[in-house]
Amino acid sequence: MTIATADEALLASLGYKQEFQRAFTPFEVFGVAFSIMGLLPSIASVLFFSIPNGGPSVMVWGWLVCSLFILTIGMSMGELASAAPTSGGLYWWTWKFSSPKCRNLLAWVVGYSNTIGIIAGVASIDWGCAVQIMAAASIGSKETFIPTSAQTYAVYAAVVVSHGVICSLGTRILARLQNLYIVLNILLCLAVIIALPIATPKELRNDAKFALGNFTNMNGWPSGYSFFLSLLTPAWTICGFDSAVHISEEASNAAVAVPWAITMSIALCGIIGWAINVALTFCMGTDLDSIIGNDIGQPMATIFFNSFGQNGTLALWAIVVLVQYMMGSSMVLAASRQSFAFARDGALPFSKYLYRMNGYTKTPVNTVWFAVAIALLLGLLAFAGASAINAVFSLGVVGAYIAYSIPIICRFVFENEFKAGPFTLGRFGLPCAVVSVSFMIFMCFVFCFPSTPTTNAQEMNYSSVVIGGVIGGSLIWYYFPKYGGVHWFEGPVANLGGEGDVVKGGEKGEKGEEGSVDVVEVEKESLDEKASR
Ligand SMILES: *[C@@H]1O[C@H](CO)[C@@H](O)[C@H](O)[C@H]1NC(C)=O
Repeated sequence: MTIATADEALLASLGYKQEFQRAFTPFEVFGVAFSIMGLLPSIASVLFFSIPNGGPSVMVWGWLVCSLFILTIGMSMGELASAAPTSGGLYWWTWKFSSPKCRNLLAWVVGYSNTIGIIAGVASIDWGCAVQIMAAASIGSKETFIPTSAQTYAVYAAVVVSHGVICSLGTRILARLQNLYIVLNILLCLAVIIALPIATPKELRNDAKFALGNFTNMNGWPSGYSFFLSLLTPAWTICGFDSAVHISEEASNAAVAVPWAITMSIALCGIIGWAINVALTFCMGTDLDSIIGNDIGQPMATIFFNSFGQNGTLALWAIVVLVQYMMGSSMVLAASRQSFAFARDGALPFSKYLYRMNGYTKTPVNTVWFAVAIALLLGLLAFAGASAINAVFSLGVVGAYIAYSIPIICRFVFENEFKAGPFTLGRFGLPCAVVSVSFMIFMCFVFCFPSTPTTNAQEMNYSSVVIGGVIGGSLIWYYFPKYGGVHWFEGPVANLGGEGDVVKGGEKGEKGEEGSVDVVEVEKESLDEKASR
């Protein structure tokens, strides 16, 4: 059997007919997972979690430890992806591997946490982008300009809305730019790993004792606890690798390519990210208070500023902002596709209006603006206090971890027909799942705590409020008398063997995306084009 017919046969055994072209080579699947992590700009966005919660030692060792745990998540997810490589992914596995008694409910919860996680991803990436733009303004004005929350929110809103416009208009230009953006991202990583140590003046270079061993705890939590809080930096950066799962039906030899794409992208981000952190700790000087608290307002921009000077930083920073902006637009696309697929199964409120293709632009315009509107609302947290906006970052991770852990648990807890694919850990599958799920549950609790111990309305962690509200709201909606999902929601619908035709909305790009799909349309299109050339 050729690879193509084997792919098709495997998909048919899952209940789906082959509708997409299998245009993605294994390396390109890896590229999708790797690029959504946007390594350097992502680290820049969340450095303010690791520097005050431990400083150098957590940046170096916390990153390493956390990457290893995230790799166990990737391996557990990889086993599922190898056994059932369908683009519905998380949502589909949950439904398939749980008991018929509760599978609709569990798939519902996974779909909701995945959706809110991705939209929080949009909000946090774009907020990071707004802060980066403001940092550039501050550096450009020789630190005479200090942005207020309202100004940062205005920039944030402009970024989010512009992404909405781009994603409504179609994605061809973005697709073209995608390759450029991967190259720029890698150049940025090299710039930090190689150029930063060269450019840093002697007095800011740190010895190994400080760079690898200093523990500075600024926020007042017990040291052990602040260590866990600092892990939000790697956890937020190395996230979203389920994007590889969502292109399963477009990947050649998916049962092998997808799990390897997940694990390799995590491993590579872990290693390169670690090198970046080491370069930073050796070159950031010892005055951590000023890196966090100065007027530039962006820790990595400050480190660059101290080492490269004003012009060098502005040049480099322009690329950071650009790559971050591109990452945000990919994320809006992902969020709109996820909402579209979830609305297709009728699960979102107002699904009837959301599940609609715009005939003129051939994009799901309604779900694009649905995602934009929720992201704008989440950004309003900036007005509830400086640290309230942190909640948006933790929300992205918590939403993802809830959605990642439920299918892994279901596979082992319920009686089901799980049959390992070519990527399998054998008898280490269960221990690996226990480690990864325990890690994710633990992290969900950690990230729902406030960032400092003095809890008041400004300092409390709103991610517990938002995630509680979303899950609670979705449960109420599920059990709602008469109209609730419990009365009609059937999980993902198979399209092979006449169980119902899912192709209501119509055109090629949308067919066959079952369940919670966040196809990274941007990469897909660019690669499709490449393949057809
Ligand atoms: C870490 O570095 C800071 C600044 O140099 C210093 O005040 C502190 O004592 C150091 N802490 C440890 C544990 O080495």
